[in-house]
Amino acid sequence: MTDQLLLAALAARENAYAPFSKFRVGAAIEDAGGRIHTGCNVENATYGLTLCAERVALFKAISEGARQFRRVAVAADTDILTPPCGACRQVLWEFCGDVEIALANLRGKVETCRLKDLFPRPFDASYL
Ligand code: THU
Repeated sequence: MTDQLLLAALAARENAYAPFSKFRVGAAIEDAGGRIHTGCNVENATYGLTLCAERVALFKAISEGARQFRRVAVAADTDILTPPCGACRQVLWEFCGDVEIALANLRGKVETCRLKDLFPRPFDASYL
């Protein structure tokens, strides 16, 4: 696998803090300037305060000043590739719109989809 974004997501997964679920996820987001922002899931003993890898990566990017994004990658150790959860789809829509999302596992399986297909009728600022 040579795609830098996928490699970044796989590397970020290594930092996952997932002692409760043992389900480790990595995410990487490429901004409009080509910079890659990464995240892993960070769990908490209260469970409900857990943050997914996608939102960690996106919020890191936002807090660094990035506002436009080209691509997202998500890596997990599953045969059926792991897509972003519903909450992450909503948050990704806010900042990335109909972005391309690459899903990968540890054995080199990769699929690409678009957020609009995963999240066909989003609520967003256009309703406000
Ligand atoms: N998780 C993510 O980080 N991203 C996803 O796309 C799916 C779920 C995390 C949250 C939790 O730490 C663990 O995976 C099990 O749900």
